[in-house]
Amino acid sequence: MDKRNILITGGAGFIGSHVIRRFLNAHPHYNIVCVDLLTYAGNLDNLSDVINNPRFTFIKADIVDLDRMSEIIAAHNIDSIIHLAAESHVDRSILDPFAFARTNVMGTLSLLQAAKNYWEKQPEGMQGKLFYHVSTDEVYGSLEPGPDMFTETTPYSPRSPYSASKASSDHFVRAYHHTYGMPMKISNCSNNYGPNQFPEKLIPLLINNIRHNKPLPVYGEGLNVRDWLYVEDHAAAIDLIFHNGGVGETYNIGGLNEWKNIDIVKLVISITDRLLGREPGASLPLITFVTDRKGHDLRYAIDPAKLCNELGWKPSVTFEEGIEKTVEWYLANNQWLDNVTSGEYLDFYNTLYSGR
Ligand code: NAD
Ligand code: TYD
Repeated sequence: MDKRNILITGGAGFIGSHVIRRFLNAHPHYNIVCVDLLTYAGNLDNLSDVINNPRFTFIKADIVDLDRMSEIIAAHNIDSIIHLAAESHVDRSILDPFAFARTNVMGTLSLLQAAKNYWEKQPEGMQGKLFYHVSTDEVYGSLEPGPDMFTETTPYSPRSPYSASKASSDHFVRAYHHTYGMPMKISNCSNNYGPNQFPEKLIPLLINNIRHNKPLPVYGEGLNVRDWLYVEDHAAAIDLIFHNGGVGETYNIGGLNEWKNIDIVKLVISITDRLLGREPGASLPLITFVTDRKGHDLRYAIDPAKLCNELGWKPSVTFEEGIEKTVEWYLANNQWLDNVTSGEYLDFYNTLYSGR
């Protein structure tokens, strides 16, 4: 069986922790090295079940630091990289775009350069190596209501500092492929939800606020549409693309599951109230319409046909099952929520909502 030494960046965050768990469990011959800076969004509790695995190494480091990335790639003889580390929250990108350019653009560039320098020196060169870049559907811009969906050939049209930084990083990955022959794959996924997501994103924020009887902020009129995918189905797609996807190819990942924000809010209220033993609809009065996000993209929708038809992927969890599992997880993990919603999180939250 194939042995690999895989560097996974951003593994202490939401999606990265699920990818690490999946790769360690499904591929017993792989060694996994995780690099994560443990920013406000990274939490070693997300990796507590794998941290003592002899095939797993955690290293706290900044992906922007080229020398450190070069050192780590050489020391662990890394042959594949799955790159997830990023600043990932649109609202934060509106307040501090420079942090997004630093981590998402310069960080990706440092990793690419460190990998290129190391791999070019190997006797076999780039042969058998892989830089897998995890990206977002937000690079494609925003859709009007209707049947249109983003495909792999939709022109890039990023509209927030977050999506502009992710688009830029995608371009650098493709540039390294074309210029230096770096073997790479990119996937662009729709909105994820599930356990371990930092509660600044819509779904965990709703659950946490319902738990504390705090207002549920709905931007604008709640009519923006997002296409939601359970995080383990994203991890499964990454696994499939990593192994079977074409080198140099891009795959869109999404579960054909579009929801208006206000409908998500009502669904999460109904499940959370039920699981908390509250009267049906008890938390509906917590809904609070607030000033819209600046430049708020109206609609995202992913066409996953290439991934489904060429690689045979399909989501395994229905939205109803996934949301139920997610609410159950957050209610059973109050301590996790309380730990991560202190300090820097609260400062940001107060800044964001003070003007509304
Ligand atoms: P997250 O914010 O939960 O986790 C990001 C992780 O990166 C954290 O552990 C953080 O500590 C780490 N990190 C940040 N800056 C770093 C740096 N300079 N050096 C090293 N580590 C650093 O994000 P997520 O939601 O898990 O997203 C992971 C990736 O997937 C991102 O690249 C994101 O753009 C992409 N993505 C996310 C979604 C989604 O819905 N969450 C959808 C599609 C794509
Ligand atoms: P979010 O989870 O931040 O993901 P993204 O902006 O990357 O799609 O937000 C999902 C949707 O929910 C988005 O349209 C913004 C909206 N939203 C709210 O209405 N209220 C909130 O408190 C948050 C965090 C988001």
